[in-house]
Amino acid sequence: MTTLIKSLNDIKKAINISKRDIGFVPTMGALHDGHISLIKACKQECKTTFVSIFVNPKQFSPGEDFDKYPRDFEADLKICKELNVDYIFSPDVSEIYPEKVSEEIVTPPTALTEMLCGLSRKDFFPGVATVVKKLLEIVTPDYAYFGEKDLQQLFVIRWLVKEYKIPTFIRACPIVREKNGLACSSRNRYLNEDKKKLASHIHKSLEMARRDVRSGIFTASKAALESLVYLSQFPDIKVEYLESRSKENLEKVTDGRTKGFYFLVAARVGNVRLIDNIEV
Ligand code: PAF
Repeated sequence: MTTLIKSLNDIKKAINISKRDIGFVPTMGALHDGHISLIKACKQECKTTFVSIFVNPKQFSPGEDFDKYPRDFEADLKICKELNVDYIFSPDVSEIYPEKVSEEIVTPPTALTEMLCGLSRKDFFPGVATVVKKLLEIVTPDYAYFGEKDLQQLFVIRWLVKEYKIPTFIRACPIVREKNGLACSSRNRYLNEDKKKLASHIHKSLEMARRDVRSGIFTASKAALESLVYLSQFPDIKVEYLESRSKENLEKVTDGRTKGFYFLVAARVGNVRLIDNIEV
C-alpha cells in the first residue's frame, strides 16, 4: 500500500514505524523511466521506500522554468502505487521553508559549482544542497538514490553528506535513455517528436567523442571540439558547454588521459535546456 504524506509530523510517525533499511528517492515529480529505475533499485535494496515529490523553488533562478516545470501528480501517484512505494512525501513549500525561520542556504564549494551548470544556473546547486540536506534530515534514510544524468548534482550531494556527516549512503544509478538515445528527463515533456529526434544528436555527439578517444584518434579536448562541430550543424541545438572532466572531482582532464573521465554537455533545443554525459 502507498501512503501519501504531506506534513512533517506524519512523516515522523511513518519513519518511527518503518522497517529499516529505509531507502529514499527524492524527486520533483513528473516521474519518468529514470525515476522508475531509481525506485526499483531502492526497493531491491531497502525494506521501506520513501519517494518525495517536491518542486523545490530554491533551485530555480528568476526567469527559469519553476512555474512551468511539469507537474502531474495523479500520474506520479499511479506510478508509485504500481511500484509499491511505501510512502510518498509531498510537502507544501511552507512545510519545507517555513517563512518565520530564517533560511540557511547551503553553499557547496566553488570547486564543484563554478563550472558546467553552475555557471549559468547560479541558484541551482545551493538550492539543491539546501533541500536535499533538509529532506535527508527529515527522512533519515539509510540509502538515497540519484541518477547519474545529473552528474554534477551527484558530486554536490556526495560533498553534502560528507560535509554535514549525514549518515546516508548515496547510490548513483545509470542514465536511462529513450529509444533514440535521448537521456530521460522530466523536461523531455516539453519536446515534440521532431524536437526529441533532434535532441538525440546530443547523446550521439557524446558517443562520437568517446569513440574518438578510445580509438586513439583524438585527445579528450580535440574529441570535445569535434563533437561541438558535429552539433553545430543543427542550428536549433545551442550548446552551452561540452567538456571533458575527471571522474574523481570533475576537474578538467589533461589530454594524456584515455579513460577515467566524462564528457558532459548542456544544450538548448529550442528553449528547453537538456544535460547529458558519458563515461570514458
Ligand atoms: O534531481 C532532482 O530531481 C532534484 O534536483 C532533487 C535532487 C530532487 C532536489 O530537488
